[in-house]
Amino acid sequence: MRITKAEFTRRRKALMDVMEPDSIAIVPAAPERTRSRDTEYLYRQDSDFFYLTGFHEPEAVLALIPGREHGEFVLFCRDRDPEREIWDGYRAGPEGACREYGADDAFPIDDIDDILPGLLEGRDRVYYAMGKDANFDRQVMEWVNAIRAKVRSGATPPGEFLDLSHFLHDNRLYKSAAEARVMAEAGEISARAHARAMRYCQPGVMEYQLEAEILHEFAMAGARHPAYSTIVGGGKNGCVLHYIDNSAALKAGDLVLIDAGCELEGYAADITRTFPVNGAFSPEQRALYEIVLAAQDAATAILKPGTHWNEPHEVSVRVITEGLLQLGLLEGELETLIADGAYRRFYMHRIGHWLGMDVHDVGDYKVGGEWRVLEPGMVMTVEPGIYVSPDDEQVAKKWRGIGIRIEDDVLITKDGCEVLTNTVPKSVAAIEALMAQAALERDA
Ligand code: GLY
Ligand code: MN
Ligand code: MN
Repeated sequence: MRITKAEFTRRRKALMDVMEPDSIAIVPAAPERTRSRDTEYLYRQDSDFFYLTGFHEPEAVLALIPGREHGEFVLFCRDRDPEREIWDGYRAGPEGACREYGADDAFPIDDIDDILPGLLEGRDRVYYAMGKDANFDRQVMEWVNAIRAKVRSGATPPGEFLDLSHFLHDNRLYKSAAEARVMAEAGEISARAHARAMRYCQPGVMEYQLEAEILHEFAMAGARHPAYSTIVGGGKNGCVLHYIDNSAALKAGDLVLIDAGCELEGYAADITRTFPVNGAFSPEQRALYEIVLAAQDAATAILKPGTHWNEPHEVSVRVITEGLLQLGLLEGELETLIADGAYRRFYMHRIGHWLGMDVHDVGDYKVGGEWRVLEPGMVMTVEPGIYVSPDDEQVAKKWRGIGIRIEDDVLITKDGCEVLTNTVPKSVAAIEALMAQAALERDA
C-alpha cells in the first residue's frame, strides 16, 4: 500500500477534530451491485469509506466516535467464514479489522442492529451522508428509532443530524505528499498508455482496439482498472463528449480522441489526447488543434496558489474565441462573442474539475458564493476542447466533424503547479514524430 496506516489514522483524526462534541460519524461501505443474474459488477469501495479506513471489503460500516472510552474507531465487517472464503477469498473479520486496519473495536456486520443503537445512545449529533443511499438513510433512522423507543427507560436519542460530506470532502480536496505521489504515478502509467495507443494507431484499426492497448498498459503496471469508461472516438465520434461505444473503424484523414485514465490504489488519472489516425494532421485539424493547445498552455500558465477557480476557464474561453474568430468559425467582435458565450457552440464544457479518488472529485468550487482560490495540494484537470458538430451548417464543410480535447492533470504546488501527465506527446510535431517512428518500426 502506498498510503500508510499512519496516514489513514491522521485522516480519521482530522475529521474527528472538526466534529462537534458528543457526536458520532457513520460511513457505510459501497454496496455490491448485480450485473446480471448471479454475477456482480466489479466491486469498488466507496471513496469516503476507503479514504478513512483503507478497507476494501463490502458489507462494512465505519463508526467514528470521538472521545469514546473503548475506542474511537469502530468497524463492522463480515465475519470470517472458512466455507465462503473457499469461494470468494479472504475476509479480514473483526479481528483482522483491528489487527490489520487499526480499528479500536470491531464487530460482525450481522450484529450491527444490536450494537449500533448502543453507540448512538447518548450522542447528541450524528454525521452521515444524508440522501446518498435511501437504504442506508432508512437504516440510520431505524437505529435512532430503536433508541427513541426506549426514552421512557431513560435512553437519550441523538437530536441533530449533520451532513458529513462537507468536512470530509474538504479534507479530500487537499492531497498529502503521499497522495500526490500516487496520483503522479497514476498519471505516468496513463501517459504511457496514451503513447502506446498513438504508436499502435493506423487506418483500419478499431476504436476498441485502441481501448485494448490502453487497458493493457494500465493492467501491466498494476493499475488493473480504468478510473472511468475509456473514450475512443474517431472522426465525428470525437464530438460526442462521453462517447464510449468505441465500436467504429478508424479512418485515414480523421482525428481520434482518446480520453482515458487508470485508477491506482484508489486514485484517478484523467488524460485526453487527440491525434491523426494516419499520423499527419490536415491543415484544418492542425489549425484547430493549435488553438486548443494554446488555450491549455495559457490556462495552465496561471495555475498557482491564489488563482481563483474560474480564471483558467476564462483564459481558455478568450484563447478559443480569438482563434475561432481568426479562422472564421465565429464572426463578430471578440468581447461581444465572449460576453454572449458564442464559443459555447464549439466549447460547451468547462476547463476542468477536481481530481482525486474520484475522477470528478469532491470539493466545493465556490466558497461563500465566491470562486474558490487554488491552494497547494489541490489537483485539477485542464481540458479545453473544440468540437465542430458534423451538422453545423453555419461553418464551412471542411471544419465539420472535427472534435479535439487536450487534457492533463495538474497539482497545485507551493509556488506554482506541476503537470502530472506531460510525458505523452502533445505538440503537433511531437505527435507526428512519434507516429512516424512507430510506422517505420511496423514496416521494418
Ligand atoms: N473523463 C471525464 C472527464 O474528462 O471529465
Ligand atoms: Mn476530465
Ligand atoms: Mn477526461
